Amino acid sequence: MAASLIRLHFHDCAVRGCDGSILLNNAGSERTAESSKSLRGFQVIDDIKAEVEKKCPKTVSCADILTATARDATVLAGGPFWMVPYGRKDGRVSIAKEAQMVPMGRESITSLIEFFQSKGLSVLDLVVLSGAHTIGRSTCGSIQYRLFNFSGSGKPDPSMDAKYLNFLERKCRWASEYVDLDGTTPTAFDTAYYTNLQDKMGLLSTDQMLYSDSRTSPLITALAYQPQIFSYQFAASMVKLGNIQVLTGQDEGEVRVNCNFANP
Ligand code: HEM
Repeated sequence: MAASLIRLHFHDCAVRGCDGSILLNNAGSERTAESSKSLRGFQVIDDIKAEVEKKCPKTVSCADILTATARDATVLAGGPFWMVPYGRKDGRVSIAKEAQMVPMGRESITSLIEFFQSKGLSVLDLVVLSGAHTIGRSTCGSIQYRLFNFSGSGKPDPSMDAKYLNFLERKCRWASEYVDLDGTTPTAFDTAYYTNLQDKMGLLSTDQMLYSDSRTSPLITALAYQPQIFSYQFAASMVKLGNIQVLTGQDEGEVRVNCNFANP
């Protein structure tokens, strides 16, 4: 569950900033976009919000809850701690089309770099935050195209380790199955994500390509064997992520009463 909450926070901040827009649950909202289909953990946020509203009505925004939850989930998984500055407000707008911009694993490294840059995040942030894939799972549907008919070749993606490919082909017969993003230490928040890439065991093609692109591969090499640097920089990059386009002004946004709906 920790992993789903970290991902939910990323998808929130990646569209209109960290404003809880991913949580709005109405026709045509971000949550209904194709790129949001595999997001999980909404109920956890709703449960926390319900508790907080009981004790302290209309005070803590859904965006703050998401941000704090992503931090706590990271710590629970064995990752670093960082300070979360509170006071984000919730937005009232959420548009599915905008969420379609969030990367889903089939993009080029150039488009990932551009997407991150458009949010004020650097190439280092891209490589370090992708390290969140050291925990959590993917639906097989997201990677099946790599296993059986890559780019219409009728063959698997040649950048994959043969044994790992064999494992995935057996594991991923059905699109609805799940597979660990980190094939070696799936529950530990460690640097195995990076060493896996060196061993051609990246699950998503965007993960694996980070190691073949000259703009990102030196960073993978640096992070692979320096867990302290990964830990320190993950915290720093998550602070940046959590501060994207936050609404904090007096007349900006609102503190939603129910994370699923804008206040009436
Ligand atoms: C760099 C571009 C990124 C791409 C292309 C990407 C893509 C994906 C995909 C395709 C999945 C699996 C979806 C499925 O279930 O089918 C996934 C899962 C996940 N992503 Fe990313 N992601 C990216 C960046 C990030 C960032 C920045 C974070 C957080 C800091 C993150 C955290 C996660 C986590 C924790 C999971 C596992 C979720 C779970 O177990 O429920 N990802 N990502």
